[in-house]
Amino acid sequence: MPMNTLSRPLSRRHLLLAGSGLVAASLLLPRGLSLAHAAAPESSHKLTAGPSQARLAGAEHPETPVWAYNGTVPGPEIRVRQGDRLRIAVTNTLDQETTVHWHGIRTPNAMDGVPHLTQKPIAPGETFLYEFDAVDAGTFWYHPHHHSTEQVGRGLYGPLIVEEREPIQADRDVTWVLDDWRLLKDASISNDFGNFMDLSHGGRVGNTVTINGKVLDQVPVRAGERVRLRLINAANGRLFGLRFQGLRPMVIAMDGHPVEPHEPDDGRVVIAPAQRTDLVIDMTGEPGSRTTVVDDFYPNLAYRLVDLAYADALPLRDRPLEADLRLPDNPVAEPDLPNAVRHEVVLGGGMMGMMAGAMMDGTMTDMRTMMRHGMAWAINGTVAHGHVMDPIFTLERGRTCVIAVANDTAWHHPMHLHGHTFRVLSRNGQPTRFREWQDTVLLAPKERVEIAFVADNPGDWMFHCHILEHQAGGMLSTLRVA
Ligand code: C2O
Ligand code: CU
Repeated sequence: MPMNTLSRPLSRRHLLLAGSGLVAASLLLPRGLSLAHAAAPESSHKLTAGPSQARLAGAEHPETPVWAYNGTVPGPEIRVRQGDRLRIAVTNTLDQETTVHWHGIRTPNAMDGVPHLTQKPIAPGETFLYEFDAVDAGTFWYHPHHHSTEQVGRGLYGPLIVEEREPIQADRDVTWVLDDWRLLKDASISNDFGNFMDLSHGGRVGNTVTINGKVLDQVPVRAGERVRLRLINAANGRLFGLRFQGLRPMVIAMDGHPVEPHEPDDGRVVIAPAQRTDLVIDMTGEPGSRTTVVDDFYPNLAYRLVDLAYADALPLRDRPLEADLRLPDNPVAEPDLPNAVRHEVVLGGGMMGMMAGAMMDGTMTDMRTMMRHGMAWAINGTVAHGHVMDPIFTLERGRTCVIAVANDTAWHHPMHLHGHTFRVLSRNGQPTRFREWQDTVLLAPKERVEIAFVADNPGDWMFHCHILEHQAGGMLSTLRVA
């Protein structure tokens, strides 16, 4: 079985074994009809992408050279209210081109940040102004869509929070951006981005997990408080399965969108790369006690992520708040299933798969030749190179589309659709319990899911795997709404 070749550079406490187990509004309305926007408050921001330093691994380790927005990992939290108009000027001080994608936000196509497809990449020294409305409330994030394995992998990402006009009641609203780094002994980032091993297996999985850019031993909490915790997985390839020991977190939103409040299956919060989960957690422990958050997504590589450490202070209240946990719906059009058009998408390739070959640059290519070109994955039999390609299908604007996605590989794939939010209708033929809205749906090996959405946002939109090495290895497609 292939092994992650990295030695284990940092102290054990900071290490995760990456080993064999792992291998195994204006938008909705035509122009001129955007009613609210004449008066919509504007929210202006500046982001500068460039080299910086971050103390990821703690005081006993050197700083890590990173690429960052405004010098920090994660980049600044952009926080606005639903309905606000965002203006974000992005300046590139890297020595390579970049773009910014506003993951999960239903922007107009020209603001989607996909190089060559929706915009010219931002050259070194240049600035690009992104401008769009925050139509949906929720937990979103931003990251480059150019050379993503390296640019995101070196630290370019940040949270984008759109507050509900009437938020639910909580004592604190906390964001945790989770990331996973492959660090060397000197705490620098291993520069083996896009190597074929990562690309053809489970993606780049590292050896150091950070919360908001830091390896943390503990985070302070207070007995009796209710915390809204927004989790964002910004890792290239690592999936998380979090258990909050002794607590009963309630899932209230997935990928930013409200879901019927529920306890996660088996008490474990699974978050694939690019996904977000909003939790409400009542801190029911005793003052002065600690409880551990464990990540056991890869069961034989379970580790302690962090402890929640209760202050000695008296509990804030003696019994949990009774306030409602249901978030108000976002203005997403409901799919019209009886009149839907249906399409099928098959994911193929990767190690231990059955794919013999696929279309690459217009010719049928066998798997071995594909691999020699550093490619390993296909969508509907085609390997994508770059971001500009023929759409796998064209949807009539306003029509509901059901896509049946079949994972014909031995690997997990979080599939992300740009410009739209979809309902997850079924998994392996069984209706889902919550028909959740998502922009990134996780498929387990061999799993089949059906998703549905109204194709109401015109343009060419990416539909791709968000394990960034799979995307680089060909698991990328576009669909057109015209
Ligand atoms: Cu978060 Cu196409 O990306
Ligand atoms: Cu994938």
